[in-house]
Amino acid sequence: MTSAPIHVAVSGAAGQIAYSLLFRLAKGDVFGAGQPIHLSLLEITPALPALRGVVMELEDCAFPLLSGISVSDDPAVAFRDIDAAFLVGSRPRGKGMERRDLLSANAAIFKAQGRALNEQAKRTAKVLVVGNPANTNAWIAIRHAPDLPHDAITSMIRLDHNRAQAQLAAKAGVDVTAIERLVVWGNHSPTMFADWQHAVVQGRPLPDLIGDHAWYRDTLIPTVAQRGTAIIEARGLSSAASAANAAIHHMRDWVQGSGDRWVSMGLASEGDYGLAQGLVCGVPALCRDGRIERVRGLELDAFARRMLDRTVAELMEERAAVADL
Ligand code: NAD
Ligand code: LMR
Repeated sequence: MTSAPIHVAVSGAAGQIAYSLLFRLAKGDVFGAGQPIHLSLLEITPALPALRGVVMELEDCAFPLLSGISVSDDPAVAFRDIDAAFLVGSRPRGKGMERRDLLSANAAIFKAQGRALNEQAKRTAKVLVVGNPANTNAWIAIRHAPDLPHDAITSMIRLDHNRAQAQLAAKAGVDVTAIERLVVWGNHSPTMFADWQHAVVQGRPLPDLIGDHAWYRDTLIPTVAQRGTAIIEARGLSSAASAANAAIHHMRDWVQGSGDRWVSMGLASEGDYGLAQGLVCGVPALCRDGRIERVRGLELDAFARRMLDRTVAELMEERAAVADL
């Protein structure tokens, strides 16, 4: 092994998403099979004993790439000189709650963590916000990390992208990897818009291949939008392994490149598609050489425009609700 370890912070490290995420990080699923990794784990003080158990399990895996583990309840310590961070730690919703119900509970967390990133993280750090409401939490963190470069902090909409991709592939009778140019726009909430308008399978428009536009509108879009709720109803807990998997896909593509495949990422708007500057919104992107390139200039038909406007309106409301906090 030749390269120096990459330092990766994970907050909420004793929680259920982290329990799926950490082992895959240590195995090399994000940064590659030749890249040693140091895990910097952040938790609240009462969860440190449970985190000790997770650390023991990580040690017991004898992962060749895992060069070290550190634990802290202080973001300023956990984020020191990190190359990447997964901000998972926050309160999940339970039955009967919407993700926006978590706004005020989690705003304070992302304010403090944004500040700590601003002061401690490497200027090249890549940060993914997973904790809900993910878009608005990312917006808060960005506001408190003015010295980090644009696009250093992103939010996760990849789980919705993956959910839509799997449903569309099953309907079309094709492999999931055959579906390209799928976009999930907007908020990671029931207003999100899974957009098949630009999607293709081996160059053929996916809407033509599936043909059933009523299924797309009346089944696909609501199924993807309500999937998180359906999992909470079924499991009594919010999605964890699939959320960790989506976080791995998001960061892996950002670090290693997405090739020519569009991915959906929550990015601070630069004004494309009429979005307010800075609003963190799910949009299509390509990743090359560690950089994010927005897919610009897509034509939106009247339906797509309406759907995008609806989810953006919700994001604007969330932003207004936390502006004073
Ligand atoms: P969990 O309750 O199992 O774990 C959360 C952990 O975060 C807990 O161990 C808790 O102690 C810790 N935590 C709380 N405040 C913290 C702080 N200030 N600093 C560090 N750690 C802190 O929850 P989970 O199932 O792992 O979910 C975590 C978050 O991810 C929730 O907000 C959930 O809604 C969200 N989520 C997002 C997506 C997405 O697609 N964006 C998908 C699934 C879940
Ligand atoms: C999900 O989409 O599964 C997560 O965001 C959890 C939730 O609250 O829906």
